[in-house]
Amino acid sequence: MPHDESHGMSTRSVHAGWEPDPATGAVKRPLVMANSYVLPSDGNYDETLYGYARDLNPNARWLEERLLALEGGEDCVVTASGVSAINGTFLALLSAGDHLICSDISYISVRTMLLEHFPSRFGIQTTLLDTSDPEVVQAAIQPNTKLIHIETPGNPTTRISDIAAIAAIAHAHGALLSVDSTWSGLTTQSPLALGADLVEHSISKYINGHGDALGGAVFGKKSLIDVIRKFVVKDMGACISPFNAWQIMRGVATLPIRMERHNANAMQVAQFLETAPGVAWVRYPGLKSHPNHAVAAQQMQGFSGMLNFDLVDPSKRADFISKLKVFVHAVSLGHDESLIFVYNDYNGSEFFRVSIGIEDASDLIADITQALAAI
Ligand SMILES: Cc1ncc(COP(=O)(O)O)c(C=O)c1O
Repeated sequence: MPHDESHGMSTRSVHAGWEPDPATGAVKRPLVMANSYVLPSDGNYDETLYGYARDLNPNARWLEERLLALEGGEDCVVTASGVSAINGTFLALLSAGDHLICSDISYISVRTMLLEHFPSRFGIQTTLLDTSDPEVVQAAIQPNTKLIHIETPGNPTTRISDIAAIAAIAHAHGALLSVDSTWSGLTTQSPLALGADLVEHSISKYINGHGDALGGAVFGKKSLIDVIRKFVVKDMGACISPFNAWQIMRGVATLPIRMERHNANAMQVAQFLETAPGVAWVRYPGLKSHPNHAVAAQQMQGFSGMLNFDLVDPSKRADFISKLKVFVHAVSLGHDESLIFVYNDYNGSEFFRVSIGIEDASDLIADITQALAAI
């Protein structure tokens, strides 16, 4: 159902993509697991109608409508996972001989695709560099540069890249800018308004919010989303399951209030870590000490829930994790519960990557305090 653009983010997150079920009057969208749909008897069938669930299914479309009302853009396509949304976008838009610039800090499967598969197997040239410096990006542009992809905040180091500055560089050269905005949790930044052409999310993370379903999404101009939808969902078959779409749509209803808590909790934990005994350093985009704080403060409204820190004695990392009682030792992010694990920045430097959840900040700080004391 079209959303009311005058409504605020919280109202849109609850109402967009929703209407009472016409068959039953149910006040929640049903889960429609059918693989195929009855076709019109006059044979007038096109891809805007439901025909086969891989191409489009009602739960996927209702989720797309809700997400579109939050992120913006002319259209949105949801996919099986964040990785299929991002790598699928590259494969849908790039051909042999094209050049892609990407942050050298990005999600591991994106990095692996660019380093291990693109140049040698598909003839797509890739340059991985520090996108937090627009001049470095500018210097890497080639005549065949078709796409610049940034992840901001970047996984795992929370690197921030200047979306508006890099959009200007891309457009001056006729290239597109794609932004993986997963770590922003959607509510804290609007890449399309800052000039990005495409935005991707792993909707397995903050957007679902409960760590119990996988999905991805891409937003942008309809002409681009049509190409990506056909390639990724129809031709590659990386469609979201109706159940995951239904589950994630339920999660989206609380995204704005959850993000308020993630933002506030992470700021409190980061400030605590700055002076906690036994902690060597902390990196959080909301702290003045973060190397890209100025850009983060300019382009984000809230700094999301991801941070890094390390111990004065790194040999005690495993011991520290074993002493935590509230934080869960696990990968992923954007869940209700706080998550911690040891990550590296691909250059051999290791640290804790922490996803601050929506628990009481005082309990998170007390948990860290007792674990630090115990080691
Ligand atoms: C920034 C970012 N992009 C993409 C992904 C991949 O998402 P998914 O696990 O849904 O494929 C992740 C997963 O951690 C991520 O952190």
